[in-house]
Amino acid sequence: MSNTAKLELDGKVYELPVVTGTEGERAIDISTLRSASGAITLDDGYSNTGSCRSAITFIDGERGILRYRGIPIEELAEKSTFVETAYLIIYGHLPTSRELQRFSGLLTQNELLHEDMKFHFEGFPTSAHPMAILSSMINGSACFYPECMEPYHAETFDEEAARLISQVRTIAAFAYRKSRGLPIIYPKPVYKYTANFLHMMFSQPYADYDLQPEVVRALDLIFLLHADHEQNCSTATVRFTASSQANLFASAAAGVCALWGPLHGGANQAVIEMLEQIRKEGDDGSKFIEAAKDKKSGRRLMGFGHRVYKNYDPRAKIIKAQCDALLNTLKINDPLLDIAIKLETAALNDPYFIERKLYPNVDFYSGIIMRAIGIPVEMFTVIFAIGRMPGWIANYLEISEDKSSRIYRPRQVYVGANKSPYVPIKDRRAAE
Ligand code: ACO
Repeated sequence: MSNTAKLELDGKVYELPVVTGTEGERAIDISTLRSASGAITLDDGYSNTGSCRSAITFIDGERGILRYRGIPIEELAEKSTFVETAYLIIYGHLPTSRELQRFSGLLTQNELLHEDMKFHFEGFPTSAHPMAILSSMINGSACFYPECMEPYHAETFDEEAARLISQVRTIAAFAYRKSRGLPIIYPKPVYKYTANFLHMMFSQPYADYDLQPEVVRALDLIFLLHADHEQNCSTATVRFTASSQANLFASAAAGVCALWGPLHGGANQAVIEMLEQIRKEGDDGSKFIEAAKDKKSGRRLMGFGHRVYKNYDPRAKIIKAQCDALLNTLKINDPLLDIAIKLETAALNDPYFIERKLYPNVDFYSGIIMRAIGIPVEMFTVIFAIGRMPGWIANYLEISEDKSSRIYRPRQVYVGANKSPYVPIKDRRAAE
């Protein structure tokens, strides 16, 4: 296979190196193209652009493969926990017992927010979306720790990373309590990561929440399955922000904002809203499927389709199995699950979805699990953000440690007005 690609422009041929990744994917390195030819490349939505070299996560969208640091997601889902997987993603290897103990210890030590942070929660209206609170609070919490305001330092990184992973869960639970007018519940060091989150969400000052192992495991699995997903919109945003040497907390807060949109992390909320709407309209899903195929309707089948997966999202398979198991254990009969199954079956047999290779993604069934646990719909994307934190941190670390990394600064093809004179206000005419 050739190590160079040739590009001909205006009769001149430019030789461009071809880079090959460890799994064989090939990329044409155009980093010298503009200086050599004066031309840039144009790739709306970046679907053909590799923005970095990364050793964290591998996805083969055609074959439905996802691996963190080389380990298949199916194996991690079966054998690992969110905290162990977080370590793997950030540090590049599965931890020894000692390393895991130290990492878990750091998470516990950092679980409490600075007490003054509590006043910030008071300033939000009760109706505030928890994603707005989460992004502000992540950014704001750095102000309480001077080292967190600094660009990357290897000496303080472990503590900062643990603080962020641990405190994002505390902030999320406090945001939920605030939105319900409930008193804040502090974390308990005896609980493990996910159990502690459920405790802060659902305990009362006078009664501890009953932690059922199946519920803890289901939520831990959701966190684990969301822990990284290479250069998606929010992770690319984190890298973008980190490329200017913004601190870890600012970079993660930017990631939360990018994740919020309904085409990305907000899809899990949008799926439940779609299923609710279908139920209210008395539709069995078939009318909705027809509308989703019609561009004019403005509807899409939420939880379906993916920029990278042109096959079943491997996380969706795992989540579906977990969803069935949990509902069975909790003896919950959720009518939305029946609608979801009907929609899935109909879409997978419909030429529109088959031709476009649209399959269920991770969000299609995760919301049903969260509903069963009692997590309100506006918290779904927050749960995604908690899970994604290790991936953002690993990407932040990767870009920060790369000595050759430069500030991200794409170019554009300008299509605006040509040089125009400044017109004094008295001579201006309103646009027709
Ligand atoms: N319902 C109906 N049609 C769809 C859907 C859908 N969910 N997704 C894509 N299509 C159609 C598009 O209209 C387009 O049709 P066309 O070729 O006739 O114009 C074709 O499939 C390709 O779609 P694009 O929008 O070009 O695909 P893109 O890669 O840009 O978008 C995305 C991917 C945003 C995920 C899209 O599939 C979507 O909107 N899905 C629903 C929202 C969702 O579930 N998002 C979660 C993604 S996973 C995550 O972030 C964790």
